[in-house]
Amino acid sequence: MATSPFRRSAPAATNPHRATSRIALGFNGNEALKSRAEELAHELELPLVMTGDPGSDLQLVLTPEHLELRDPHDPRLGPVFVDFTPLDLRPYSANLSRRQPLARAFGKKVRTIADATAGYGQDALLLALMGFHVTAIERSPVVVALAQDGLNRLTTLTGMVLSERLRLVNGDSRSLLPTLAPRPDAIYLDPMFPPKRRKSAAVKKEMRLLRQLVGDDADALELLEISRGVAHDRVVVKRPDDAPPLAPDPSMSLTGKLVRYDVYLARHRTKT
Ligand SMILES: C[S@@+](CC[C@H](N)C(=O)[O-])C[C@H]1O[C@@H](n2cnc3c(N)ncnc32)[C@H](O)[C@@H]1O
Repeated sequence: MATSPFRRSAPAATNPHRATSRIALGFNGNEALKSRAEELAHELELPLVMTGDPGSDLQLVLTPEHLELRDPHDPRLGPVFVDFTPLDLRPYSANLSRRQPLARAFGKKVRTIADATAGYGQDALLLALMGFHVTAIERSPVVVALAQDGLNRLTTLTGMVLSERLRLVNGDSRSLLPTLAPRPDAIYLDPMFPPKRRKSAAVKKEMRLLRQLVGDDADALELLEISRGVAHDRVVVKRPDDAPPLAPDPSMSLTGKLVRYDVYLARHRTKT
């Protein structure tokens, strides 16, 4: 995994549906972190402000331990950072089983997957560790930075080598997917969806700040249509178990814990 997905990324396409939060890079006065904070602010094109500055809705803050997202107007909420270390990622763990619905939704022939809604990168990481080759695309540069920070810490702590199986890219999948060469066997979509299911406080906090940052993904149907024209084999869409499918008539659905994976065949496979 490269340490910066930004230098080699395509220019991020504009997301007309994004949330309108003003975000800044918060500097906490730690001189040892100053030059890295300035570099990051420049890379992400964010204003550099002192932490707690009330002029921003959200702040990305570099601490000695990690990169975190804070709501300066609601300090009780606590920071959000990406931490994969509590996950059981041992080779035969349940999280990495090819018998679970997420893996089964891709079928037996799929080898390469584009995760077109990478978010904090957890699903992309699990798919990569299950053995798929994954290109993970996320349009929010701030979310990419948080995910990359989590992946970097995971590889540093565990010595895990992910670079051959997981590539994280910043850009809008609607424009990047058609440029992927070779085309992926499958595309995975997990767009934002209004929260409904029972969740732990920690998940709520992560999702609340993520929604504040990226909005509602109201263009998810357009992304599904594009994906069906790009994938060789299929598109898998993750939905809450009680939500209607993103598009009518998926060819198959697999139900997991609180979520469902709807499978749509690639467009050329449905033509008679
Ligand atoms: C619910 S989150 C995905 C969570 C992810 N599956 C995980 O395991 O962390 C949805 C993410 O998709 C991203 N997204 C939505 N549409 C996108 C697009 N067209 N291109 C790139 N990213 C997109 C949003 O910015 C958001 O971060």
